[in-house]
Amino acid sequence: MITETNQACDLVIFGAKGDLTKRKLLPALYRLEKSKKIHKDTRIIFSGRANWSTKDYIIVAKTAIKNFLNEEIDSVIWKKFVSRLHFCNIDFCELLHFFRLKEILQKKKNIIIYYCAVPPNTLNAIFTGLGNANLNVIPARIVLEKPLGICLETSKKINNQISKYFLESQIFRIDHYLGKESILNLLALRFANSFFFHNWDNKIIDHIQITVSEEVGIEGRWNYFDQMGQMRDMVQNHLLQILTILAMDQPKNITSESIQYEKVKILRSLNPIDINNVHKTTVRGQYCSGMIKGKQVPSYLEEYGANKNSNTETFVAIKVYINNQKWFGIPFYLRTGKRLAQKYSEIVVFFKKVPINLFKNSNLELSQNKLIIRLEPNTNIKFNIFNKTPGLDREYQLENSQLESIHLYKKYSKNLIDAYERLLLESMRGVKSLFVCRDEVEAAWKWIDPIIDGWKKMKNNTPELYISGTWGPKNSDLLLARNNHFWHKFN
Ligand code: BG6
Repeated sequence: MITETNQACDLVIFGAKGDLTKRKLLPALYRLEKSKKIHKDTRIIFSGRANWSTKDYIIVAKTAIKNFLNEEIDSVIWKKFVSRLHFCNIDFCELLHFFRLKEILQKKKNIIIYYCAVPPNTLNAIFTGLGNANLNVIPARIVLEKPLGICLETSKKINNQISKYFLESQIFRIDHYLGKESILNLLALRFANSFFFHNWDNKIIDHIQITVSEEVGIEGRWNYFDQMGQMRDMVQNHLLQILTILAMDQPKNITSESIQYEKVKILRSLNPIDINNVHKTTVRGQYCSGMIKGKQVPSYLEEYGANKNSNTETFVAIKVYINNQKWFGIPFYLRTGKRLAQKYSEIVVFFKKVPINLFKNSNLELSQNKLIIRLEPNTNIKFNIFNKTPGLDREYQLENSQLESIHLYKKYSKNLIDAYERLLLESMRGVKSLFVCRDEVEAAWKWIDPIIDGWKKMKNNTPELYISGTWGPKNSDLLLARNNHFWHKFN
């Protein structure tokens, strides 16, 4: 069992040149340095095929941090940060190259953490190389990035490959949404507040909407994205994580085991979607050109490196039911897409209408109370209620108002922590509660695979086009309209 430790670590990052390392890991590590969260003797060893020296890599790292961190680099912090950096040239297919890494690691007795920021097809070579060089022994840990595979079978394959060399307790699977402050707050909202705790099931709630919309396109990642699509890239992990946290029963405590146990129960209770119901319960879209923030952007098929016949979806909307006592009959709507009108993530919980309307003569028809949880940006929580309009009218007149919204993190804005900062730190501490277990990943694929398969088998399986800068394809609205529901409008 790995326990929290303040011990010095050797953090080995495989994929030194990659997009994730440059955009997320390097800036996050620099910020951790700045907040003095990294042990003084911790080393950070970047590894990849490039024939670089540590000096060469420091230049690469500085450029990446400058490009992707919205702040000036402080020379004192930089000096300290640079003193930790090493570069180790490894071709992952060359077993003997891992002994170069061993040589560096053996110079200290630090806890070793391997972070695999590499495409899934290189993972097995890394596991084997580490195993062969005997670099896998406890207390070493290994961090895996999502997506783990592209279906249940490939995910199992990776899990089986890694389990030859590492125990489950050594494996940390990342879904960076679990490191976001606003997602962590969902647990507090649900389980620390008796009002929400007691009003969170199909007796009170009518339906729930989860939207994760993005303005970006595929950011030069055509090859990766075209294999994945929005379903594998976003729904299989981020959206299902949000859904399970919202729907799960109260865990026994807030340890990783208890939370994961409850989340897996939800994943296994999701109503199956396959060729028989996929056309009624899902919508796939692909963006064509349009305007984002006043700028013309190309269609998906015009992106750099595109295969002009690609059928890959960049938008997904799904209606899903959870087959358990608590949620029976309640639709959960998930929606996510690239090149949409606005970048934001939000959960809207619609409560049932009161059974009898005493205020029939009001100018306002009684509708549903809504709890609006804005995850990003401007994280806040609003509750829509009806009030009596003040005045001398004999009849009650009602108005729709919002209980004071809480701008959750305004007072902390300077110290807000990026998800990768938190997750890197947790992996160095050896705390697993914000990581995803094997059962979760596999249960998620088990539900996702028949949907993708259903799409393939549909007579017309081309995604519906939508104009960049809009809210996605028309059928996304129809999906809800069939149940007399409507997407909550962004405001
Ligand atoms: C990643 C996906 O996991 O999440 C990207 O691979 C996506 O395609 C990104 O853009 C969104 O993350 P965030 O934190 O910006 O919502």
